[in-house]
Amino acid sequence: VLHDERPIFLVGFMGSGKSAVGRRLAERLGWGFVDTDALVEREEGRSIERIFRESGEGSFREAEWHVLRGLEGARRVVVATGGGLFLGVLQRHMMKRLGRTVWLDVSLSTARARTENGEGRPLWERGDSTAMRVFFEKRRAAYAMADVRLDASRGLPDAVVIQILTKLGEHLR
Ligand code: S3P
Repeated sequence: VLHDERPIFLVGFMGSGKSAVGRRLAERLGWGFVDTDALVEREEGRSIERIFRESGEGSFREAEWHVLRGLEGARRVVVATGGGLFLGVLQRHMMKRLGRTVWLDVSLSTARARTENGEGRPLWERGDSTAMRVFFEKRRAAYAMADVRLDASRGLPDAVVIQILTKLGEHLR
Protein backbone atom coordinates (compact mmCIF):
# COMPACT_ATOMS: atom_id res chain seq x y z
CA VAL A 1 0.00 0.00 0.00
CA LEU A 2 1.46 3.30 -1.02
CA HIS A 3 0.77 6.49 0.79
CA ASP A 4 -0.16 8.26 -2.45
CA GLU A 5 -2.46 6.29 -4.77
CA ARG A 6 -2.50 8.73 -7.66
CA PRO A 7 -1.08 7.47 -10.95
CA ILE A 8 2.66 7.13 -11.47
CA PHE A 9 3.63 8.36 -14.96
CA LEU A 10 6.83 6.99 -16.45
CA VAL A 11 8.37 9.38 -18.95
CA GLY A 12 11.52 9.29 -21.03
CA PHE A 13 13.01 8.60 -24.40
CA MET A 14 12.01 5.74 -26.67
CA GLY A 15 13.74 2.64 -25.36
CA SER A 16 14.14 3.89 -21.80
CA GLY A 17 12.18 0.88 -20.54
CA LYS A 18 8.93 2.62 -19.59
CA SER A 19 6.76 -0.34 -20.56
CA ALA A 20 8.93 -3.10 -19.10
CA VAL A 21 9.58 -1.21 -15.88
CA GLY A 22 5.99 0.00 -15.69
CA ARG A 23 4.57 -3.50 -15.90
CA ARG A 24 6.90 -4.70 -13.19
CA LEU A 25 6.15 -1.72 -10.94
CA ALA A 26 2.41 -2.27 -11.33
CA GLU A 27 2.83 -5.95 -10.53
CA ARG A 28 4.80 -5.22 -7.39
CA LEU A 29 2.23 -2.65 -6.23
CA GLY A 30 -0.80 -4.68 -7.22
CA TRP A 31 -1.86 -1.72 -9.38
CA GLY A 32 -3.14 -1.54 -12.94
CA PHE A 33 -0.85 -0.81 -15.85
CA VAL A 34 -1.55 1.17 -19.00
CA ASP A 35 0.60 2.20 -21.91
CA THR A 36 -0.55 5.35 -23.72
CA ASP A 37 0.76 4.03 -27.07
CA ALA A 38 -1.38 0.90 -26.68
CA LEU A 39 -4.43 2.98 -25.68
CA VAL A 40 -3.99 5.18 -28.75
CA GLU A 41 -3.68 2.15 -31.02
CA ARG A 42 -6.79 0.62 -29.50
CA GLU A 43 -8.81 3.83 -29.81
CA GLU A 44 -7.71 4.41 -33.38
CA GLY A 45 -7.88 0.79 -34.41
CA ARG A 46 -4.50 1.02 -36.18
CA SER A 47 -0.81 0.95 -35.34
CA ILE A 48 1.20 4.04 -34.43
CA GLU A 49 3.23 3.52 -37.56
CA ARG A 50 0.04 3.67 -39.63
CA ILE A 51 -1.35 6.69 -37.78
CA PHE A 52 1.85 8.62 -38.54
CA ARG A 53 1.93 7.46 -42.15
CA GLU A 54 -1.75 7.95 -42.97
CA SER A 55 -2.69 10.95 -40.81
CA GLY A 56 0.56 12.55 -39.67
CA GLU A 57 2.17 13.22 -36.32
CA GLY A 58 -0.35 15.93 -35.37
CA SER A 59 -3.13 13.42 -35.49
CA PHE A 60 -1.19 11.02 -33.28
CA ARG A 61 -0.52 13.81 -30.75
CA GLU A 62 -4.24 14.62 -30.65
CA ALA A 63 -5.10 11.00 -29.94
CA GLU A 64 -2.42 10.83 -27.24
CA TRP A 65 -3.75 13.97 -25.60
CA HIS A 66 -7.25 12.50 -25.62
CA VAL A 67 -6.01 9.31 -23.96
CA LEU A 68 -4.22 11.31 -21.29
CA ARG A 69 -7.31 13.35 -20.47
CA GLY A 70 -9.15 10.06 -20.03
CA LEU A 71 -6.95 9.33 -17.01
CA GLU A 72 -8.46 12.16 -14.98
CA GLY A 73 -9.28 10.85 -11.54
CA ALA A 74 -7.56 7.48 -12.03
CA ARG A 75 -6.08 5.76 -8.99
CA ARG A 76 -3.65 2.88 -8.46
CA VAL A 77 -2.36 2.76 -11.99
CA VAL A 78 1.11 2.93 -13.50
CA VAL A 79 1.19 4.73 -16.85
CA ALA A 80 3.94 4.17 -19.42
CA THR A 81 3.82 7.21 -21.70
CA GLY A 82 4.90 7.59 -25.32
CA GLY A 83 8.27 9.34 -25.52
CA GLY A 84 6.79 12.56 -26.89
CA LEU A 85 3.89 12.99 -24.50
CA PHE A 86 5.80 14.82 -21.76
CA LEU A 87 7.07 17.43 -24.21
CA GLY A 88 3.80 19.31 -24.54
CA VAL A 89 3.30 21.94 -21.86
CA LEU A 90 -0.37 21.09 -21.34
CA GLN A 91 0.38 17.39 -21.31
CA ARG A 92 3.18 17.83 -18.80
CA HIS A 93 1.06 19.92 -16.49
CA MET A 94 -1.79 17.48 -16.76
CA MET A 95 0.43 14.58 -15.69
CA LYS A 96 1.83 16.55 -12.80
CA ARG A 97 -1.64 17.46 -11.67
CA LEU A 98 -3.02 13.93 -11.97
CA GLY A 99 -0.17 12.14 -10.27
CA ARG A 100 3.58 11.77 -10.00
CA THR A 101 6.05 11.82 -12.86
CA VAL A 102 9.20 9.72 -13.04
CA TRP A 103 11.89 10.13 -15.70
CA LEU A 104 13.71 6.98 -16.73
CA ASP A 105 16.95 8.47 -17.96
CA VAL A 106 19.09 6.41 -20.33
CA SER A 107 21.99 7.13 -22.65
CA LEU A 108 21.33 7.42 -26.35
CA SER A 109 23.32 4.25 -26.98
CA THR A 110 21.19 2.29 -24.48
CA ALA A 111 18.02 3.65 -26.08
CA ARG A 112 19.29 2.67 -29.49
CA ALA A 113 20.27 -0.82 -28.42
CA ARG A 114 16.85 -1.41 -26.88
CA THR A 115 14.82 -0.20 -29.81
CA GLU A 116 16.65 -2.19 -32.46
CA ASN A 117 17.03 0.96 -34.53
CA GLY A 118 13.49 2.16 -34.45
CA GLU A 119 11.24 -0.70 -35.48
CA GLY A 120 7.67 0.66 -35.42
CA ARG A 121 8.81 4.06 -34.11
CA PRO A 122 8.37 6.67 -36.85
CA LEU A 123 10.46 9.31 -35.10
CA TRP A 124 13.52 7.16 -34.76
CA GLU A 125 16.34 7.91 -37.15
CA ARG A 126 18.75 5.19 -37.98
CA GLY A 127 22.43 5.59 -37.43
CA ASP A 128 24.43 7.75 -35.10
CA SER A 129 23.63 11.07 -36.72
CA THR A 130 24.28 14.40 -35.09
CA ALA A 131 20.62 15.20 -35.66
CA MET A 132 19.63 12.29 -33.47
CA ARG A 133 21.97 13.46 -30.73
CA VAL A 134 20.49 16.98 -30.86
CA PHE A 135 16.95 15.60 -30.82
CA PHE A 136 17.87 13.42 -27.83
CA GLU A 137 19.46 16.26 -25.85
CA LYS A 138 16.53 18.62 -26.51
CA ARG A 139 14.18 16.06 -25.14
CA ARG A 140 16.29 15.47 -22.05
CA ALA A 141 15.73 19.12 -21.14
CA ALA A 142 11.98 18.50 -21.10
CA TYR A 143 12.15 15.17 -19.27
CA ALA A 144 14.20 16.94 -16.61
CA MET A 145 10.97 18.63 -15.51
CA ALA A 146 9.66 15.34 -14.13
CA ASP A 147 9.28 15.10 -10.35
CA VAL A 148 12.11 12.60 -10.06
CA ARG A 149 14.87 11.30 -12.29
CA LEU A 150 16.73 8.05 -12.14
CA ASP A 151 19.38 6.30 -14.14
CA ALA A 152 17.67 3.46 -15.95
CA SER A 153 20.54 2.51 -18.25
CA ARG A 154 21.66 -0.50 -16.27
CA GLY A 155 20.00 -3.15 -14.20
CA LEU A 156 16.93 -5.29 -14.50
CA PRO A 157 13.45 -3.77 -14.31
CA ASP A 158 13.24 -4.89 -10.67
CA ALA A 159 16.24 -2.80 -9.71
CA VAL A 160 14.71 0.23 -11.44
CA VAL A 161 11.45 -0.39 -9.59
CA ILE A 162 13.24 -0.24 -6.24
CA GLN A 163 14.90 3.01 -7.29
CA ILE A 164 11.55 4.51 -8.26
CA LEU A 165 9.92 3.68 -4.95
CA THR A 166 12.91 5.01 -3.03
CA LYS A 167 12.93 8.27 -4.97
CA LEU A 168 9.21 8.71 -4.47
CA GLY A 169 9.76 8.25 -0.76
CA GLU A 170 7.59 5.12 -0.76
CA HIS A 171 8.30 1.55 0.16
CA LEU A 172 6.34 -1.64 -0.21
CA ARG A 173 4.60 -2.52 3.02
C1 S3P B 1 7.34 8.70 -29.67
C2 S3P B 1 7.56 7.58 -28.91
C3 S3P B 1 6.79 6.32 -29.07
C4 S3P B 1 5.43 6.60 -29.71
C5 S3P B 1 5.59 7.39 -30.95
C6 S3P B 1 6.28 8.74 -30.73
C7 S3P B 1 8.13 9.91 -29.41
O1 S3P B 1 6.63 5.73 -27.80
O2 S3P B 1 4.61 7.28 -28.79
O3 S3P B 1 6.33 6.61 -31.87
O4 S3P B 1 7.77 11.00 -29.86
O5 S3P B 1 9.16 9.78 -28.70
P1 S3P B 1 7.81 5.00 -26.96
O6 S3P B 1 8.50 6.04 -26.16
O7 S3P B 1 7.06 4.04 -26.12
O8 S3P B 1 8.70 4.36 -27.96
